[in-house]
This record gives sequence, structure tokens and C-alpha cells, in this order.
Amino acid sequence: MRRFALLLSCLAMLAAGCSRESTPTPASTPAKPAEAKMTVERDEHSYAEADKVAITDLALDLKIDFDTKTLSGTATYTLDWKDKAAKQLVLDTRDLSIDKVEGEDAAGQWQPLQYGLAKRDDILGSKFTIETPAQNQHVRVTYTTSPEASGLQWLDAAMTEGKKLPFMFSQSQQIHARSWVPLQDTPSVRYTYTAHVVSRPDVMVLMSADNNPKAERNGDYNFKMPQKIPSYLMAIAAGDLVFEPLSPRAGVWAEPAMAKKAAKEFEDTEKMIETAEKLYGPYRWERYDILVLPPSFPYGGMENPRLTFATPTVIVGDKSLVSLVAHELAHSWSGNLVTFASAKDGWLNEGFTSYVENRIVEALYGKEQADMESVIARDELKEEFKSVKPEAQVLAQKPGTEKNPDDNSSATIYTKGAWFLQFLEERFGRADFDAFLRGYFDHFAFQSINSQQFADYAKANLLNKYPNKVTQAEFDAWLYEPGIPPTAPQVLAARFGVVKTARLGWLGSGQLPPPAITGAWSTQEWVHFLEGMPKTLRIDQLTQLDGAYHFTGTPNGEIAQRWYPLAVRSGYTQANDAIAAFLERVGRRKLIIPTYEELVKTEAGLELAKQVFAKAKPGYHPITTGTVQKLIDEAKPATAPATATPAQ
Ligand code: BES
Ligand code: ZN
Repeated sequence: MRRFALLLSCLAMLAAGCSRESTPTPASTPAKPAEAKMTVERDEHSYAEADKVAITDLALDLKIDFDTKTLSGTATYTLDWKDKAAKQLVLDTRDLSIDKVEGEDAAGQWQPLQYGLAKRDDILGSKFTIETPAQNQHVRVTYTTSPEASGLQWLDAAMTEGKKLPFMFSQSQQIHARSWVPLQDTPSVRYTYTAHVVSRPDVMVLMSADNNPKAERNGDYNFKMPQKIPSYLMAIAAGDLVFEPLSPRAGVWAEPAMAKKAAKEFEDTEKMIETAEKLYGPYRWERYDILVLPPSFPYGGMENPRLTFATPTVIVGDKSLVSLVAHELAHSWSGNLVTFASAKDGWLNEGFTSYVENRIVEALYGKEQADMESVIARDELKEEFKSVKPEAQVLAQKPGTEKNPDDNSSATIYTKGAWFLQFLEERFGRADFDAFLRGYFDHFAFQSINSQQFADYAKANLLNKYPNKVTQAEFDAWLYEPGIPPTAPQVLAARFGVVKTARLGWLGSGQLPPPAITGAWSTQEWVHFLEGMPKTLRIDQLTQLDGAYHFTGTPNGEIAQRWYPLAVRSGYTQANDAIAAFLERVGRRKLIIPTYEELVKTEAGLELAKQVFAKAKPGYHPITTGTVQKLIDEAKPATAPATATPAQ
């Protein structure tokens, strides 16, 4: 995810005197469609050789140990040997210690198998090769995770809301499942799973599986995921978690102090499920529950099947950020049901999902709200594309574009992807396009596909079926060329017109808009108000805004994400204490990285960043720690502190 890079590029661009509202220029070297098209190939981010043998079922038996911060136990695989000459099972691992490997023989006896763990690659981890000359149908690995596992976070009781019990949770996407289960860690392989998990008895354990809202808290739990899922959807969490129902099939899990508040914020969940079902067919995963994590969760949300993981930072009291639930729920069709075969086709998950998310928001909260959200995302895209390399602006990416799949351009896969589908919707008409998407989800249900398979399906069921609406060249430009194609439909959010007028009016005259206007603004309007500001403001201007709107210390992370970088750039040190408190409390990367990026640009700021990071680090997730550490290590602060330049 590179959402945080947006702000940085925005600043660079503003410094260069460009206009925020300009359209991105298409980059110079478009990939030719013929070159970019590809057939099914191995996933470059996995060592697995799934064309030879594939895992069809996984049975986990694990113990959670909060004292050593480890998971240990066994993973037993059922294997489908596709290549009768294959003699090895190759798995992905990262920082696992392997204790034993066995294969079940024809007589049902477990016999030791030879294996080797290769040298660790920083991004891919260690290739784990098991010798299986007999092509065993079942193989069992006994292993222990590292306390530093990149896909797990362990929180001491003091770091939780209730401060009574420790907490542990996973984040497997993109390639972190391999740090807690040895697996064919590629979305091209799908399997069912079961798990038996033991923990201290006072802790509740949940997984991306059939959680029972009435489960007894006793330290011994069983799970079953009967639908085939890819490895990045493996998830586990443990802590002081209670359940709050939202509807017969939906609910919220959270720490006791958060549960009621979260249930109120997410009360529209059932309506969201019904809206999506009406558009794209039945919800196929039985229950849909949301787990509210501690504020250190490094993402906004994660679509773990049957149990979305969500940041508490979207619980702001007015439901203005619940599009996150619409998004993660939408993944139940786009992503979890029809899955990208590798991260380079990320848009098949995130672009489709961002499109569906917007449709759900429109149905529930109106077109105006949906349009405001689109405009914010597209403004971000225009900024991000100024610094994203052309190859990474392409939806159907070539292999090798991104070494680390966590670095995929979110502007491309989320926003350009969704924009492409909105373009198709507009050209083919909503009724026909909705029917097409519904057919697509049915056709590829429980399969992992690449961009080419989507393109072929769309050609047969859209372009050829309804001729003269979209040419193949127009279609291919979206998939294979960088930038935003000239066919992109534009969206205007009427309410943002008022916001822009208010901002420009204030910048010109110092006169703030009347409270009758701003009193009705939601998060999106405040975000738009702040995003259009000049690179820096004068101290008296920031003081005036703070006096009127109390941005410093805001409980709303989306506002903090825009206000604090502006404060830092402007030398508004009055906000430093609140900045420190925010960065120490929240670990969601998108919200905090823009502020760190600004801080490290000056010596005083870098000093503050280091101090804050030292305090915050024990509470950050490994994914967030890695990003912040890199920013601090690579900082080149200006020797003189930045002086605020007057606005305009
Ligand atoms: N699947 C993503 C999260 C993700 C993507 C994790 C890539 C690791 C690598 C999830 O569905 C998502 O998109 N989350 C967004 C929130 C959403 C409202 C756009 C996020 O975390 O910002
Ligand atoms: Zn998503």
C-alpha cells in the first residue's frame, strides 16, 4: 500500500508550483497490449510450484503462547499431485523454526521426511523444500513462529483498551501468512482449512472461519473454513473479545469497552449485505462479522472471510467512515470469491471492490456521499501518479514491476481500477453492466484468475455482446497503458463546490465560513477543505483554524492525517504534543506516515520523530515499524529548520 506516498508527492508537486486540479499527463512509454498480455504463470512472490502439487486442505493444531509470543504446533496438508514425476513439496516460510516433517505412508503411518530450509530472502522469506519421493497424500510439519513474525502482532495487556488481557492478531496479506504457517503462499492456490487452537483460558480466539458468537471462553477452540480460500485470507486473533449482534447473520467482536460503540457505528451492516446481494447474488460465506482491533492495526480493514478485521479509527460517531465496511464486505464477492492469481493483478481485488464499495455507499447514503468519496480518491490518484513509475500505473502489470508486493500503487489498483469499471458501467448502462458483473462473480466463483482471464470474459460477455459501445482499443488502454485514459468519466461533487469556495474565501479575506455551513460538514468535506490548502500556512492562520475547528487533537484520524503534516510544514510547533500523542496511539500506516514524512525533513522534526517512534514502537505492528524505521534511517533533514512561507 502506498497511500501515504500521495501526500509526499502532493507536497513536492505543490512546491513545484503545479496545480492540484490538473489532469495527469499520460507517461511516455505505454506498454503495448500485445506485450503486456500473458498466460497463467508462476507467482513471482512465492516459491510454490503449484503446477506440480497443490494443497487442497490444511489442518492446523496450534498453541498460542503469550509469554514467548509464539504460535507452535502442526500444519497437516492434503495434497493434490498434478505432476506424476514431482518429488518435492516446496512451501513458503519466513522466520519459522521447523522441528519435524513427516509424511503419511500407505499404511497410515507417519514417517520422517527429509527437508531443507534455504537462506532467508528479505522479501520472500525462506524456501522450504520437502522431499516427497512417494508423493504422500498427507504431509505434516511441526513448527514454531518467531516473536518477530511479520504477520503477527503481540500486544501486552497494557497496550489494549481494557488493559486486562494480552492481544494477538494476524495480518497475512500480501505475503505474511508464511510467517505464521508454512504454506504455498500464493493466491493462485486455494484450499479449505480446519484449526484446533489452544490458548490461556481467559482469552477468546477467532479465525477467518466459522466463529460461534456464543462460543464458551475456555482456551480450547475449533474452527472450520469449508470454502476454498487463498493463503492471504488466513487470519487469527486472540484477546478480551466480546460479541455484539447486528443482525441474525452479522455482528461485531471487540474489546468490552468498544463493543457497543462499534455496533452503533456499524449498524447498517446488514443493509449493506442486502444491497450487495441484490446487485451480485447471495452472500456465500454464511456469517459476516467484524472484529475491531486495537489502534495499532496497520491497515484500515482486512477482508478476512467471515471476519473482517477493522481499525477502530473509523469509529468516529457519525458513520462518515463506514464505507470501510462496505469495502471489506464487497471483497466477499471481489477478492474472496473471485481472487487475483497474483499480487500484480491486485486491481481485480481492490479495483472491483472499490467500485462495489461505492455502489453500496450510493445505495445507502446517496449519490452525493458516493461522489465525494470518489473525488477524494481521484484527487489522491492524480497526486500519486506524479511520482509512480509508468509501469506501476498499469492495471494488468507485468511480472517484476514490484519486487515487494506490499509496495503496489494503491492509486492504480484501487482508484484507477474502480474508475475503469465506472467507465464500463457508464458506456454499457447500469442494468447491463450489473448483470455482467453478477455473471462474472458466478462464472469465476472460488477461482483465482488474472487480468487476461477478465479481459477475455469481458470481450465475450460485454464488448461483443453489446457492440459499438466500447472499442477493444478503449478497453485495452485502461488495462495496459499508464495514466488515466481520455475516456475516463468525470465526477463532480456539488458539496465540494461549497467547500472550495469557503477555503478560497478564507485564504483571501481571513473570513471563515459561517458555522451554519461548516456545522453540517462531514469528514469528507473537512478532508477536502484541508487538502486544497497551500503547502504551508502562517501561524496566525493555523491558530485561527484551530480556534474555530479544534483540528489539533482531533479524534478523527482522516482529519489528523491531513492537518498534522500541514502543521509540521508550517512550523506550527503548538501541535507537537498532540502530534506525539496521535503517533503514539495510532499505528494505521495510512494515517500516520504522512506526518512522519514531514517530520523527518527538518532536524528538529527528525528529533521529535525519533523520540515519538522510540515510545510508540513497542505498540506498533511490524509492518508499520518497518515503514517508519526506513523513513528515519533514510532521512536527510535540512540543517536549518523550515521557515513558514506565507500563504499564496
Ligand atoms: N485488502 C486490503 C488491505 C491490504 C491490501 C492489506 C494490500 C495488505 C496489502 C483491504 O481490503 C483494504 O483495501 N483496506 C483499506 C481500506 C479501504 C476502505 C480502502 C485500507 O486498509 O486502507
Ligand atoms: Zn480492499
